[in-house]
Amino acid sequence: MEMNYKNTYKLSMDDPQGFWGKAAEELIWDKKWDQVLDDSNAPFYHWFNGGMLNTCYNAIDRHVNEGRADQLAIIYDSPVTNTKQNFTFRELQDEVACLAGVLKSLGVEKGDRVLIYMPMIPQTAMGMLACARIGAVHSVVFGGFAAAELATRIDDAKPKVILSASCGIEISRVIEYKPLLEEAIELSSHKPTNTIIFQRPQAEAAMLEGRDIDWVSACEKAEPADCVSVAATDPLYILYTSGTTGIPKGVVRDNGGHAVAMLWSMRNVYNVQPGEVYWAASDVGWVVGHSYIVYGPLLNGNTTILYEGKPVFTPDAGAFWRVIDEYKVSVMFTAPTAFRAIKKEDPKGEYIKKYDLNNFRALFLAGERCDPATLLWAEDLLHVPVIDHWWQTETAWAIAANCLGIEALPIKPGSPSCAVPGYQVDVLNTDGEEISAGEIGSIMIKLPMPPGCLPTLWNDDERFISSYLSTHPGYYLTGDAGYKDEDGYIWVMSRIDDIINVAGHRLSTGAIEEVISAHPDVAECAVIGAADQLKGELPVGLSVLKSGVERDVAEIEKEVIALVREKIGPVCSFKKIVTVARLPKTRSGKILRGTMKKIADCEHYKMPATIDDPNILDEIKVALKTIGYA
Ligand code: COA
Ligand code: AMP
Repeated sequence: MEMNYKNTYKLSMDDPQGFWGKAAEELIWDKKWDQVLDDSNAPFYHWFNGGMLNTCYNAIDRHVNEGRADQLAIIYDSPVTNTKQNFTFRELQDEVACLAGVLKSLGVEKGDRVLIYMPMIPQTAMGMLACARIGAVHSVVFGGFAAAELATRIDDAKPKVILSASCGIEISRVIEYKPLLEEAIELSSHKPTNTIIFQRPQAEAAMLEGRDIDWVSACEKAEPADCVSVAATDPLYILYTSGTTGIPKGVVRDNGGHAVAMLWSMRNVYNVQPGEVYWAASDVGWVVGHSYIVYGPLLNGNTTILYEGKPVFTPDAGAFWRVIDEYKVSVMFTAPTAFRAIKKEDPKGEYIKKYDLNNFRALFLAGERCDPATLLWAEDLLHVPVIDHWWQTETAWAIAANCLGIEALPIKPGSPSCAVPGYQVDVLNTDGEEISAGEIGSIMIKLPMPPGCLPTLWNDDERFISSYLSTHPGYYLTGDAGYKDEDGYIWVMSRIDDIINVAGHRLSTGAIEEVISAHPDVAECAVIGAADQLKGELPVGLSVLKSGVERDVAEIEKEVIALVREKIGPVCSFKKIVTVARLPKTRSGKILRGTMKKIADCEHYKMPATIDDPNILDEIKVALKTIGYA
């Protein structure tokens, strides 16, 4: 029987054990699983129970042993430092084994956590793989987060060792990482035993004797470490993501299910064959980087590109086309915001004409809603399918996509297409009933979710249940709202919680509000995600000062902006705040953030029936106008 989308999807639903068991056979296992899916402790599900394997072995060593030793595994391209560097699978194996040896010599064992706070350099991927090699659990923290955010993650994951670098580079700005790391260690209650620091020539980090270890010299002296067999259900990594409070959620990823999902998705979603060059232009600090800069492509025997630069200004809006041409990229993945940035600088696509994109087959976009105008613009200029797909940190891979490796479905701009095999996606109303095509509701995934999706939250089974599984029993709450159309296409329209999406980065407005409220002059505040042409959304603050405060308002606003940058980080892009006399609330005291967002975005809004004083909305409109909204 010829496999198309429909029958592949049906097979995955009718016989998930057979479907994923077959997919798992593509990996090298030290011991075969006893059960493909263990559902004896639902709603906690475990894939490939009893199986033993090593993710690093499957991502590197197996390719060295199977004839890919001299193929490039990683291409590092850094326009911000004018550096290009290649690593074959054999070279990557040597580097990773030595770094794993250093970790072992510091007492890091299977199950211990290692935190990685690093920029987009190959050593970051090596750090992740070195952990996987010895069964340690990595927790990568994005470089754009501030010390306080880093400290929260140190306290939650309790790493024995932290890997870091002396600096990151943002276009031409050198950002010293070591002072941020020192501040975070100072702030956290848990202290790592050691740090391993990769010195970059752009900024030399001061080292603390006895605790800090120089990356390069330690690797030179290290005894290479071999792969350690771990259980399929053992954790591979923790990745923190914004929840609805200031405390991030530690999404756990297992080894077995993750490796199976990564490999399957490379071939079936992205349609990439071993040996090809695959490029995800994102950051290793996000799930896209974990899945599709590091694990997915390497597990599939692809060459992956680590790009330390931006889509524009490094040096121009032709940066992406240059990389695609130079390395013969087959398939690329990035966020729509990157394409909006290029479109803004080069609306007619003049730069594309300078490059040869003959090898380029498809562009995948995710991380935020893809506006049809950007998708059509890209399609028009690139002459390849532009595929919007939808997923989240929790799932590690696509929930809805046009699976090019199975069958290319017609593209409907604005929709990430249909549910990927393995996911039963239902749109439910507040009573938990399925609603008809075209009606907006909460998008949920029927349990069990396929391999690769989070088995739980780090050290917090209870929060896992309360955050994701308690709304409607038997379903996982994605937090997204939208609808399915008559053809089964999914349309993801908005969030149902306080999460906003800024340049593909997921942020909690609640967390920003917590920081603003901590300013001594602020009585209360609200943060809304206002529409932004480039970044999709931008956080905008409205604050009410404590009575009796007579300081200059502009001065206080500046301090609040600086405080958010200091406590959460620059990645938040929090630059607009306005002081108001009062905030609109319902009679029960709930701040009407949704209505304020509509006012900011110049959208029609209905006067909420429960509002305590309708006149406030006019005041809010006037205030938002002063900072360029409404
Ligand atoms: N370390 C320190 N600071 C960082 C950082 C890092 N790793 N990454 C970003 N920042 C800073 C930026 O310098 C910027 O600071 P500024 O406000 O002082 O200018 C701020 O955080 C916001 O960064 P960013 O959202 O990246 O905005 P930008 O204006 O620098 O670039 C885009 C805008 C669209 C070009 C950029 O967001 C982009 O390339 N996105 C690609 C998509 C992507 O990676 N998505 C992630 C998930 S797929
Ligand atoms: P993150 O966990 O940071 O990857 O963010 C996941 C969230 O980003 C999702 O829950 C959605 O709200 C949003 N998102 C990601 N991809 C898409 C997409 N293709 N269309 C619409 N929203 C998306």
